[in-house]
Amino acid sequence: MLTRKIFIAGNWKMNPGTSEQAKALAKAVREGVGSASEVEVALGAPAIFLSAVSESLNDSPIGLAGQNMHWAKDGAYTGETSASMLLDSGCTHVILGHSERRHGMGETDEQVNRKLKSALEAGLYPIVCIGETLEERESDRTESVVAGQLTGSLAGLSPEEMNKVVLAYEPVWAIGTGRTATPGQAQDVHAFIRRTLAARFGEKTALIVKIQYGGSVKPDNAEELLGCPDIDGALVGGASLKASDFLGIIEAGRKVSVAR
Ligand code: PGA
Repeated sequence: MLTRKIFIAGNWKMNPGTSEQAKALAKAVREGVGSASEVEVALGAPAIFLSAVSESLNDSPIGLAGQNMHWAKDGAYTGETSASMLLDSGCTHVILGHSERRHGMGETDEQVNRKLKSALEAGLYPIVCIGETLEERESDRTESVVAGQLTGSLAGLSPEEMNKVVLAYEPVWAIGTGRTATPGQAQDVHAFIRRTLAARFGEKTALIVKIQYGGSVKPDNAEELLGCPDIDGALVGGASLKASDFLGIIEAGRKVSVAR
């Protein structure tokens, strides 16, 4: 049986306020994680702090993620960051299509798809976010919305490319609200996503691709969520800004890994 390694990624969003604070947070996470490798860990820092955080993570098993990128290799795109710039700053991963970009800044599936292809071409591991709004859930459209996001965001990818992609299911109504999906609700959507991947990319790829859950993951609900068979990790916002909370979630991942 194939076991997907639990993957816990922090999404710091537009925090903390200074590079000194960013380095201190990375250092605290690094010390807490040590050299253990049962759980894969990455930190998503603001673009301007990536190089500083990368130095703090040097020689540790912790990955570093950009929170967005442009699809173009270079050119006249004021304020944007390319895949090669992320790599040069020490990134291993990039978060794409976060709901705050989709809903707050009008990012479309087509744009996410272009970014995804550029990230893969550059050798970054993408974390692609999908998830429904409260209104979509309440009108029973969760599966159709998620299926549409998968079709659009993953268009044109081969199974080999898809094997390198991590998905993050983040119900928009659970992000930063303290309102977590129940493990049952999350597992149902994760299983649906895996079935959709199987139909589109084949069973083998569906078994390889990690699907993180995101939305108010905290140390006290992480173990139950991560214990679900199709939940392979977490994308953590608020709780990743406090090292002890983030380490608590990693610890929950360790416990679940042992039991898997
Ligand atoms: P949250 O954010 O953990 O603060 O809900 C998750 C995310 O936006 O990735």
